[in-house]
Amino acid sequence: MRRRNGEKMKNTVATVKQQKKDGDKITMLTAYDYSIARLMDESGINMLLVGDSLGMVMLGYEDTLSVTMEDMIHHTAAVSRGAKNALVVGDMPFMSYQTSVYDAVFNAGRLMKEGRCNAVKLEGGAAVCPQIKAITEASIPVIAHIGLTPQSVNAFGGFKVQGKSEEAARRLLEEAKAVEEAGAFSVVLECVPAKLAALISESIEIPTIGIGAGAGCDGQVLVYQDMLAMFSDFKPKFVKHFADVGTMMKDGFAAYIKEVKEGSFPAEEHTFKIDEDVIKKLY
Ligand code: KIV
Repeated sequence: MRRRNGEKMKNTVATVKQQKKDGDKITMLTAYDYSIARLMDESGINMLLVGDSLGMVMLGYEDTLSVTMEDMIHHTAAVSRGAKNALVVGDMPFMSYQTSVYDAVFNAGRLMKEGRCNAVKLEGGAAVCPQIKAITEASIPVIAHIGLTPQSVNAFGGFKVQGKSEEAARRLLEEAKAVEEAGAFSVVLECVPAKLAALISESIEIPTIGIGAGAGCDGQVLVYQDMLAMFSDFKPKFVKHFADVGTMMKDGFAAYIKEVKEGSFPAEEHTFKIDEDVIKKLY
């Protein structure tokens, strides 16, 4: 998205919705810190998601359930400081909104006030529509998240593709319509069969952002450590490695270790000088 003079334009809820109308695919990646946010922002990404996936890829938990509001605020604030043009979305962690509408508005407000994000995301369909409505009415834009919702991993009995039977597919379509009706300005579809995701995208006006949901969505999101091959615990089927940064990093670390061991780093150009007569007096 650019202004006429070539300067990049700030992505907003309005520009993201317009992208769907224009058939311009929406790009989103997860980010969890300032440096990565700056790099992605400078690359022209539309939205940065500070996902609760940080529990797995940044903190090493086996799922997202232990992530706290404090974790989310800390990382969201860092990303917000690095994002000039991208719309920053803060994820609401497990049990920060399921408990009540009051908790949902209170915690969404904290993410915005303390994390300085532009929108929040929460998982669930019809069950969390009262929360989506109340948060939206508090002037906080909401992205919904349906299909495979990782915070429900125990209820699902694992990370599985959703909406495969006729009944489940109909339910997902209804969930998408319900979150739109409740006021969400966009909806993430995770691990949904591609044809169903395309049908959902045609059936609602708000943009769909797919992850493992095929090319028929209005936009795509990936976890950045996945798409840069930096996370090797497992590789979901929907992940493509766009660069092998994991290998580049390991090569860089190995080169550093070698040079430190053999004494070739730091070299002359990396060191600070002191006058000879000053140092001589110390011997
Ligand atoms: O937490 C996250 O990163 C997410 C995306 C995978 C959509 O919810």
